[in-house]
Amino acid sequence: MAAGDGTGRTAVSAQLLKGQKALVTGANSGIGKATAIALGRAGADVVVNYVAGADAAAEVVATLQGFGVRAYAHEADVSDEDQVVAMVARMVEELSTIDIMVANAGLQRDAPSTEMTLAQWQKVIDVNLTGQFLCAREAAKEFVRRGVVPEVSRSAGKIICMSSVHQIIPWAGHVNYASSKGGVGMLMQTLAQELAPQRIRVNAVAPGAIRTPINTDAWSTPEAEAELLKLIPYRRVGDPDDIANAVVAVASDLLDYVVGTTLYVDGGMTLFPGFATGG
Ligand code: BGC
Repeated sequence: MAAGDGTGRTAVSAQLLKGQKALVTGANSGIGKATAIALGRAGADVVVNYVAGADAAAEVVATLQGFGVRAYAHEADVSDEDQVVAMVARMVEELSTIDIMVANAGLQRDAPSTEMTLAQWQKVIDVNLTGQFLCAREAAKEFVRRGVVPEVSRSAGKIICMSSVHQIIPWAGHVNYASSKGGVGMLMQTLAQELAPQRIRVNAVAPGAIRTPINTDAWSTPEAEAELLKLIPYRRVGDPDDIANAVVAVASDLLDYVVGTTLYVDGGMTLFPGFATGG
């Protein structure tokens, strides 16, 4: 059950989220998979959402069950309202409620803006932004209905939006993606402002360059990785566990007073590294 970097120094206590029920969208690969596993390791029951890749989702479920927590996989397209409503309704039926919604599912459809099709634009906005809205909305309804259960958590529920450094860093050739993540930032803050009085905490975790299938081209050759490292003051490409551990922390009562914040987990990518020697 070694967590994090294998040294034990980054391991998460199995008590931290005990008794809480989490749903992670896009949990069959990359950051979502690592997050689902980390939440389970911290003691939460976990619903593993996926849209394609049932085998990979089943593997994540098996890993979670090995920790002694409850878990099942649920296929749903987060950009489809009926499917999201049904996914959260099933969770309330099977696990009795939801305490943590990790709106993680996201994708890229890159193209120069003059060549970008409406379909490429729309797909990214639908999944990355509308999908997060729908998941947050359905989770929030259940949080409001149930309220705070002090033995479980100090808050009535947590929504964690998976953002990106591109919430604030413009990204040529990716106008759909950068716009979706900029939107996620304001979605998160507005929901946080609206829902905080009901003891619901909405926050975002914003990864930098993390080794996942979404950006293989950026790190899979030594030349590409060397270029990428120039953008990362900490000079290390991130691992999915770097993000997963941040999500566990934000979801836990350790960070109960953190409301409406974006936690950048990026090795300093948002520090304008070009200015270290220029400007
Ligand atoms: C993107 C990756 C990219 C990283 C840093 C992420 O949000 O999905 O493709 O490598 O930002 O630019």
